This record gives sequence, structure tokens and C-alpha cells, in this order.
Amino acid sequence: MAVHKAVVPAAGLGTRFLPATKAQPKEMLVLVDKPAIQYIVEEGVAAGVRNFLVVTGRNKKSLEDHFDRAPELEAALRQKGEWELLATVEETARLAAVHYVRQPEARGLGDAVACAAAFVGDEDFAVLLPDDLILADPPCLAQMLAVKEAYGGAVVALEEVEPAQTQRYGIIRGREIDRGVWRIDDLVEKPTPAEAPSHLAVVGRYLLPGRLFPILAATPPGAGGEIQLTDALRVLARDYPLYGYLFTGRRFDVGDKLGFLTATVELALARPDLGPAFAAYLRRILL
Ligand code: G1P
Repeated sequence: MAVHKAVVPAAGLGTRFLPATKAQPKEMLVLVDKPAIQYIVEEGVAAGVRNFLVVTGRNKKSLEDHFDRAPELEAALRQKGEWELLATVEETARLAAVHYVRQPEARGLGDAVACAAAFVGDEDFAVLLPDDLILADPPCLAQMLAVKEAYGGAVVALEEVEPAQTQRYGIIRGREIDRGVWRIDDLVEKPTPAEAPSHLAVVGRYLLPGRLFPILAATPPGAGGEIQLTDALRVLARDYPLYGYLFTGRRFDVGDKLGFLTATVELALARPDLGPAFAAYLRRILL
């Protein structure tokens, strides 16, 4: 069951990274040598997604430039014979068809996804949250597609979290029907540890049906006064099969400084060109 379209909400103000995000979208912050959003788009492409809709706000122009051609830069690299760099630059523009829509006001994740209604129509689609960087092989979205192929319905990525952390996530109630596959009966957005129905949190990857859009349009503000995707999924789950999948891999919250730093270290260590020297440096300063 192929999914060709993905929605990438990127309209947040990125206040956790000020002043870096004063004039620059947080999705363009660099992890080693690629902006965070490129890792997300690459994960989608690896799962067969060809069209991305980035939901942006004001101040996001560099995002558009990043996935566009850069004729002056390309000409300069060509003239210098920098073929590898030229390929890197051209590749970002060729990666996928990237479209943009503005979310006029920051009214929550559910509202951001609702901005994609006309783009998606009634197809199945993916939602990829750029704050969640997931290192996995196969990539997380591809793992979820395999679950969708086997069970149908909608699929969200799950991760077990510490009881004290439930207030940062959408938390599910459900039962495990196969290894790592949960049938979801209900979800709650950011419950206190006492209210949380489990320790299974939804993380930023979703495979959803187009029929979610009318539900989103009717979803009132919820937790934090925002229109929550979780609240719409809760309505969807009443008469549409919703599954959660405990993916294999590791997630980094790159919307958080510590998560961003750990992801940077892990990505750098995994790079053949940087890893050995960086590991030697880390060993030296830790001893
Ligand atoms: C959003 C969702 C939440 C989900 C989380 C995953 O929250 O609302 O349900 O668990 O992403 O990262 P946010 O991180 O935008 O507060």
C-alpha cells in the first residue's frame, strides 16, 4: 500500500533555541552538515514518498531555498570542478517535490495538519514531525508501512517513555496484537502520570487516511488551548482501525537542546569521514 504524500509541520517558533531561531527556522538547524528537515524528507523518500507539503509560518524562506535549485552556487562549484559538492547541492533540489503552505496562526499540530487538506485529498498520507529525528534501519516510516501493509488502517509510531514523561506526549490505551503492534482504543494528549492510560507515547510519525480531515475540521481546541492531532485520532479510532508500532531504532528530540546535542554526536560518530577522529577526541576529553 504505497503512500505518496507527506505533511511536515514546520510552523513553530522554535523558542527553545533562541537566539539561534530568531531569524532562522529551527528546522534548518544543522546536524553535522545537513539541516534537520532534510533528514526527515530523506526518511520519507526512503519509504516511497514523492510529494511533501511543508506547513510553514513567517520566517521560513530558507526552508524553501534549501530544496530549490541554487544556480549561482552550482555554477561556481562547476567552475571550480567541485563535483562532489555540486552533486550534494543538486541532490537536495532533486530529492522530492516539496510544496509549501502557510499556517496563518500557530493553533496547534492538528491545525497545522488541517492545512494539508487540499494537498492530500482523500488519499492515505504520512505526517512527519521534524522535532523527532529517528535513526533506524529500515527507516521508521518504512517499518510503519510494513505494518500498514499487514493490518491496514492508520499507524502511528510508538515509544515507551518514563512514567514522569507522559505529560510531553500523546499516550495510548490499547492491546498488543502482535510483536510491537498495538491496536489503539483511545489516546490522551499530554496526560499527567496519574491520568496516563499507559507508558506508550506517540512519536512524530503517522500514516493516516484522508478521512481524518473532516474530523480535524470539527476538532475543538484541547490540551494547551491548541487543536490537537491526538484528539482527532481519538475520534478516528472509534470507527477506523488505528495501530501503534513500537519501531526498532532510536529517536532524538532535536527540538530540545540536549536531544539536539546527542543526535549530533551520534550522527557524527556514525560518519566514516568524521567518526574515528571525533571518537578519539571524545575519548581524550572524557579521560
Ligand atoms: C506532538 C503531539 C504529541 C506527540 C509528540 C511527539 O507534541 O501533539 O501527541 O506525542 O508530538 O513528539 P509536541 O511535541 O508538538 O508538543
